[in-house]
Amino acid sequence: MTPDPGTGDGGFHLLGTAASSIAGDTDALFLAMLLLCGTVAFVLLVLVIVFSVRYRRGSSAERGKPVRRLTWLEVTWTLVPLGLFVVIYAWAAHQFMQLYRPPPQALPVDVVAKQWMWKLQHRNGRREINELHVPLGQPVELKMTSQDVIHSFFVPAFRLKQDVVPGRYTSLWFTATQLGSFDLYCAEYCGSQHSQMTGRIVVMQPAEFSRWAAAGLHQPGLAQYGFALFRQLGCSGCHDARSTVHAPLLEGIAGRTVHLQDGRTLVADDNYLRDSILEPHKDVVAGFAPVMPSFAGQVSEEDIQALIAYLHSTGEKAR
Ligand code: CUA
Repeated sequence: MTPDPGTGDGGFHLLGTAASSIAGDTDALFLAMLLLCGTVAFVLLVLVIVFSVRYRRGSSAERGKPVRRLTWLEVTWTLVPLGLFVVIYAWAAHQFMQLYRPPPQALPVDVVAKQWMWKLQHRNGRREINELHVPLGQPVELKMTSQDVIHSFFVPAFRLKQDVVPGRYTSLWFTATQLGSFDLYCAEYCGSQHSQMTGRIVVMQPAEFSRWAAAGLHQPGLAQYGFALFRQLGCSGCHDARSTVHAPLLEGIAGRTVHLQDGRTLVADDNYLRDSILEPHKDVVAGFAPVMPSFAGQVSEEDIQALIAYLHSTGEKAR
């Protein structure tokens, strides 16, 4: 186990290393909440003690006078805490929204969790297990799914945690702000070796990262592999301009608005593309017959990610 880089200098750290662009904000929010809740708890505790002593049995405190109502006091102690907690709510909601809005230039990385390891793949085809290399100061977006049960991708130094769920994609983005190696954990109990499902994030200088990413590349890029699968599985037999089968053309489909047979419209995001491969009859495109067979069981999670990467790449070419 690598020692927590946050305690490396021997000093006291309440929150540990903060090594991502959002970590500072998250810590500030956490401390503000701690301070506010701590203050409220402290005031209540003091009042409980003072009143218990003052009005204990046998004390000579005055009890006979009728209670005098102080409206301004009651209004103040209701509205001031309410206002403070609403501020905390708005602040947290703002940060939450930011967490789900990755910058468009973010570096994509595909993640597949399984009992009990993390499999990661960069767009150029470079794969890693239980280790993720990323460049310093550049946003990285993880698209994650699980091959079996629910896992959770947890990097304490980045203040990030996201469930990784079978049957759909969840995503996470961050910008690393510190060089070094940071612990990665699985934070969802996923079986007997859950506690060993750990890894690390290695943050490198951008130039060094580029060298690392290009080195030892024996596989084709993810989109290229996806294209090979697209032919091999016979997708191109129908979804091709020259095909005699009446099937939707898929060039540039990713991110486009799709009209469905039943009148609904949706955006062809990665979850939609994934469902269309595994459950093609779920969302049938308007004007087409539900004739596509399901590819469930024939393609692995990595294969699906490659197919989706290929579909994304056709959009980039078309642009
Ligand atoms: Cu995977 Cu716990």
